[in-house]
Amino acid sequence: MTTSIRTKTDPLDSTDPQVLDYMLVPHRNFNLINGVHSPDEVDQIQNWDIRDSDIFAVTYPKSGTIWMQQILTLIEAKGDVTSNTEHLNAQRVPWIELIGSEKEFNATPSPRLRVTHLQYKFMPLAIRQKRGKVIYVARNPKDVLVSYYHFHKYAAMLETPKDFNDFFKKFMEGKVFGNCWFEHIKTWYANRDNMNFLYITYEEMIKDLHSMVERMCRFLGKDLTEEQMASVVEHSTFRTMKQNPQANYKTVPDSLLDHNKGTFMRKGQFCHFSTSYS
Ligand code: A3P
Repeated sequence: MTTSIRTKTDPLDSTDPQVLDYMLVPHRNFNLINGVHSPDEVDQIQNWDIRDSDIFAVTYPKSGTIWMQQILTLIEAKGDVTSNTEHLNAQRVPWIELIGSEKEFNATPSPRLRVTHLQYKFMPLAIRQKRGKVIYVARNPKDVLVSYYHFHKYAAMLETPKDFNDFFKKFMEGKVFGNCWFEHIKTWYANRDNMNFLYITYEEMIKDLHSMVERMCRFLGKDLTEEQMASVVEHSTFRTMKQNPQANYKTVPDSLLDHNKGTFMRKGQFCHFSTSYS
């Protein structure tokens, strides 16, 4: 995969004239994306200084990352949707694996909200001493596969699939960013007792978002009134987010996401396939 596009440290900002080739780069049995991630910087994440107030939402790609960015921001703002309207979800709750993240992480006041698609082995070692909190969101692999297939068709930093069967093969072989879905969920879940860890599923969030937001608040030690809770839920529904340019990536330049070929908030539904461990 060698799509040439314009980028800079923030891959959502295409104003920098630097031209890079995006391609998957294997690093410690995990595929990074050239121009978006740096193997050296990803290796440094283990040494990051973690505060108890740090919150990490962990997802395999296409499992509701943007949804968690929305929910975590709103929980933090106690449901006040006007508190931060000028930034995209990805800027309010950035990925830790992006180039340049460490500097920005260190400079951010608490509470630091972050997302990641990385496997457990790359995470700051301090989370194994129960510093910070981790919310893992799992989505059933069938829907992830379909969502990821469509995403590959319009995301410039990812290879355009030849067809669905070809993408299916690559997904099953872990030859995508995020690698093998099964390995991702298995390694994170196997290590759950080492961390302050909450495991939730995309499907539970679809079925009863209010209960899931309550569960997240309990886990995070956030005390919201019923009115604040209702606001978090209302502004995190698929319908509302689809209409919110900060929450649906509609403002990301076409050079990164070709909006003529697809949409980030695609269907937001699930097939009947359980990712519950209980
Ligand atoms: P679909 O492509 O199946 O519609 P990620 O942010 O990890 O890339 O995940 C994107 C997927 O989450 C997309 O799935 C998107 O529609 C879905 N999604 C995002 N916000 C959602 C919401 N509020 N409710 C339901 N699904 C949501």
